[in-house]
Amino acid sequence: MRQLVPTATETTIEQAYRAPLDRRTGAPWVGLCMVTSIDGSTVVDGQSSDLSSANDSGVLHQLRSLADVIIVGAGTVRGEGYGPPKKPGQRIGVVTGSGEVDTTTDLFTSGAGFLITTTDADLGSGDRPDVIRAGTAVVDLRAAIDQFHTIHPSPRFVQAEGGANLNGALLDQDLLDEINVTTSPLTVGGSGPRLAEGAGDVTHRFELAQLAIDDQSFVFSRWRRRR
Ligand SMILES: NC(=O)c1ccc[n+]([C@@H]2O[C@H](COP(=O)([O-])OP(=O)(O)OC[C@H]3O[C@@H](n4cnc5c(N)ncnc54)[C@H](OP(=O)(O)O)[C@@H]3O)[C@@H](O)[C@H]2O)c1
Repeated sequence: MRQLVPTATETTIEQAYRAPLDRRTGAPWVGLCMVTSIDGSTVVDGQSSDLSSANDSGVLHQLRSLADVIIVGAGTVRGEGYGPPKKPGQRIGVVTGSGEVDTTTDLFTSGAGFLITTTDADLGSGDRPDVIRAGTAVVDLRAAIDQFHTIHPSPRFVQAEGGANLNGALLDQDLLDEINVTTSPLTVGGSGPRLAEGAGDVTHRFELAQLAIDDQSFVFSRWRRRR
């Protein structure tokens, strides 16, 4: 992998993604990690795997290894499945309004998975994973993240892993401090979701913190929110 920005040099995934772009005292630093096609789709036939590569997957896993908490939309979990984390103590929160999340999977039986939902969502009775509730009708993600200290002793870096509708909700609340996006060297056409769906017309300024390319023409960019 060759880094072009901030300086031109050979690099590795471990070096290029050795830490979040920054940290903050107080509220956790929130990063998004996604892969898109050149024409902006985040799926091929409803899944992200055909957009990805060994290096893209390496980036996802390297950033995951830095995260204290991962958040993911229920649509992605229903479509792609999600297993328990490899990193001890890491928690994975599934954002859902409907509560339609299968909590019998390894993600939840391992104790790592938890639900992030609204104050009025009906999750039924019986055994239930940890739940964070914030907002009515839709999850207030800022208020939910503010409660992460209840499920992790030191939630300093939160990685969001999509999909598009969760990303839209994060953009709506201006919660993304960094965006790590891999551009796959493919066009896919179709009507697949782009990076964010469902957000209002909100403009947030980011600056390019890092840019790298590999020998398969995958482009790896890291964007920091300019506040
Ligand atoms: N290219 C990539 O890097 C990448 C990464 C991840 C996923 N994907 C792809 O993206 C697709 C899924 O994306 P998607 O947009 O359909 O689904 P999604 O964003 O994963 O999940 C959407 C669901 O999350 C819940 N949700 C999100 N924000 C909410 C809020 N503020 N309040 C309440 N609930 C909220 C809702 O769940 P309920 O319906 O339960 O209420 C909503 O239907 C899949 O095809 C997946 O393969 C691609």
